[in-house]
Amino acid sequence: MGRLDDRVAIVTGGGRGIGRATCLRLAADGAAVVVNDIDEAPAQETVALISAAGGTAVAVVANTVDLDQARALTAAAADEFGKLDIVVNNAGTTRDKMFHGLDDELFDFVVDTNLKTGFHTTLAAMPYMREVAKAEIKEYGRPAYNRKLVFTSSVAALMGNPGQFNYTAAKGAVIATTKTLARELGPFGINVNAVAPGFVETRLTAAKQAGETYGIPEEMRTMARAMISLGRLGEPEDIANVTAFLVSSDADFVSGVTIPVTGGQLGGM
Ligand SMILES: NC(=O)c1ccc[n+]([C@@H]2O[C@H](COP(=O)([O-])OP(=O)(O)OC[C@H]3O[C@@H](n4cnc5c(N)ncnc54)[C@H](O)[C@@H]3O)[C@@H](O)[C@H]2O)c1
Repeated sequence: MGRLDDRVAIVTGGGRGIGRATCLRLAADGAAVVVNDIDEAPAQETVALISAAGGTAVAVVANTVDLDQARALTAAAADEFGKLDIVVNNAGTTRDKMFHGLDDELFDFVVDTNLKTGFHTTLAAMPYMREVAKAEIKEYGRPAYNRKLVFTSSVAALMGNPGQFNYTAAKGAVIATTKTLARELGPFGINVNAVAPGFVETRLTAAKQAGETYGIPEEMRTMARAMISLGRLGEPEDIANVTAFLVSSDADFVSGVTIPVTGGQLGGM
């Protein structure tokens, strides 16, 4: 028996990094997982890893910055597995620039990717989560079980981070909107929480090579390690473990919170 047996989950950005680790963990806990990404090959790789481990998953390529694509994603989950219980809004990215050099294009791209994806995916999930819970309440007086939404903020939103005005605008909004949505959806038995990862080893935090889109300077990695009480950078699984808790019935009385998962990073606790 897994603690997510009979649950259906969507994880956005499930093709790499934290999203992939989350897909693997939810599948290992028994959920049927819809692996969403904008890139097909890594999403299919995640599905293959889940299948090889005996789990159940399908890949759905969609960019949920676009609401129609978000609707297609949630419809695909319901078509494939008959329902939708869990959405992990993990898709996100960085395009760092010091504030004085920022322009609308960089601001909008980062805010869309980190905030609008979660907005749209969650909106598109409402017919399968809120409406289904509402019908259960009408018929039985309560929802059959708690459904779960998890959003992804960042330690950068808790501390501020030079070069990340665009990113922290989105990740700070994730914390605030998580609280609002928890209040709106609590009466329908839907828990709404967020994780705020610290420095986690993915392509976003790899040592930046000249000309590459992703990554951070090596000095920042060294500085980060020095600020982390537990003395190491995080692994994607460190975040997946906490999300797996939040989407399980063990966290049925937890809602509206953002959990820093930072290894005790100074200023980010
Ligand atoms: N790595 C860290 O240290 C760290 C720290 C704090 C927060 N985060 C957050 O964790 C989440 C995952 O980050 P990661 O480090 O695993 O990054 P990653 O780049 O390794 O993986 C992100 C995945 O999201 C996908 N993606 C990007 N835009 C998308 C879109 N519009 N729709 C669907 N998929 C999309 C990418 O193709 C990629 O596969 C992000 O929200 C990120 O901001 C990461």
